[in-house]
Amino acid sequence: MAKLITDEQIAEQKSYIMKLKEENMRYAAENGHTRLALTKTYGCQQNENDTERIRGMLEEAGFDFTEDDNKADVVIYNTCAVRENAEQKVFGRLGILKHIKESRPEMIIGVCGCMVQQEHITEKIKRVHEHVDLVFGTHALYKMPKLLFEAMHSKGTVIDIEDSDGMIAEDIPMKRDDVSKAWVSVMYGCNNFCSYCIVPYVRGRERSRTPEAVLNEVKELVSKGCSEISLLGQNVNSYGKDLDMDIDFADLIRMVNDVEGVKRIRFMTSHPKDLSDKLIDAIAECDNVCKQLHLPFQAGSDKILKEMNRKYTKADYLEKIEKVKKAIPNISLSTDVIVGFPTETNEDFEETLDVLRKVEFDNIFSFIYSRREGTPAAKLDFVLTDEEIHHNFDRLLEVQNEISKRKNDEYVGRIERVLVDGVSKNDENTLSGRCDSSKIVNFKGDKSLIGKYINVKITQAHTWSLNGEIV
Ligand code: SAH
Ligand code: SF4
Ligand code: F3S
Repeated sequence: MAKLITDEQIAEQKSYIMKLKEENMRYAAENGHTRLALTKTYGCQQNENDTERIRGMLEEAGFDFTEDDNKADVVIYNTCAVRENAEQKVFGRLGILKHIKESRPEMIIGVCGCMVQQEHITEKIKRVHEHVDLVFGTHALYKMPKLLFEAMHSKGTVIDIEDSDGMIAEDIPMKRDDVSKAWVSVMYGCNNFCSYCIVPYVRGRERSRTPEAVLNEVKELVSKGCSEISLLGQNVNSYGKDLDMDIDFADLIRMVNDVEGVKRIRFMTSHPKDLSDKLIDAIAECDNVCKQLHLPFQAGSDKILKEMNRKYTKADYLEKIEKVKKAIPNISLSTDVIVGFPTETNEDFEETLDVLRKVEFDNIFSFIYSRREGTPAAKLDFVLTDEEIHHNFDRLLEVQNEISKRKNDEYVGRIERVLVDGVSKNDENTLSGRCDSSKIVNFKGDKSLIGKYINVKITQAHTWSLNGEIV
């Protein structure tokens, strides 16, 4: 069972939150304005959820928030290590901040999360980005108040990237911007060690929160007006394996389904090898669980799947999908695909296209393989050239775009329940929301509908979204 960070350790952090708050109040009284913090998140929902914790702690410590680099007193980047371009973006931003800090030396720059949990990255930051004041990894998140306080009172870079061997910190304040929907982490870490992936190295071993902790969080969210809950974990199907009780993820979603006031439950991510019949039944039977499943297959060739250490074959995967479709006929399916794993040939890639054509996913998230230092796949030589890999990637999108459009066309004429998220980016008279299967729906309507469920008749389908009219 995962060890909890002790009450004393949490209390220590609370005392630093109070120290920061006193200083911030003094600063506001002297300067006529509150100190401002800026946070930016790279990476997955897990990281977004962690940033909500960071913002919660900053808010309690008396910071206000800004999105303007030039006004921020504290900048914290919560980083991702899953692909190289995520890391390059952060290094690019740090270069820009260096110039800003030259004119405002009192500014505090912090980098946290998955990327800096890798020692070679933290070494590079120390070497090349001396203007960074604070570096903390995924395991040190709960210690941010103390580390920030130290960074504000010392000259050198404060660094904490120690591995905690799987601890869980409860009772960290959170600042969520969206009232109607929320992410709730049910477990942390990953034990799968897919050969291309850095996540198990930067997030540590799998550890589950207790059902009580999850349910208490859900109930509190509902009491504040939230009705859509997305349960998060790198591999939610392993939920509960490390707990001293007889519970698995299927049991957990049934418990969340029974919480009064919850209208929609989503979850991610499921690993195909652990997708149980019990979970399929739970999705089918629970009224509030959205009929939607994200099931990454990564590659279609059995040879590549083996080298990826995915522990299933193409046939196993297709069989699971058939089971799901049979049990839940209206299920909306999505997946992750990697193109250009080092040993992948054009013939292997054809197998990936074959899976797309057979399953007909509603949408896919596709990535070109990115070499991650320290992973087993990093030692492999490439069979295909960059050009061939990009060509395959384009073909993948071509095949899938046609399928996605066709799947969306099926929605035309239907009436869908949509939770209104906000106004569309392109037009302020157009609202945007998601239907139960998570497709984006755009329609004309008044801003006062944001946060509400409404019925929308779908009138037009695009590849990536639907248009409709309120009924
Ligand atoms: N735990 C989830 C998600 C992990 S990261 C899962 O197992 O599905 C999200 C996606 O990033 C993965 O599904 C994979 O498709 C992709 N990914 C991970 N490592 C990668 C790498 N080195 N290069 C390219 N894509 C990668
Ligand atoms: Fe990475 Fe595989 Fe774990 Fe997903 S299951 S986080 S791809 S190692
Ligand atoms: Fe990236 Fe870390 Fe998520 S590496 S994908 S932010 S777990």
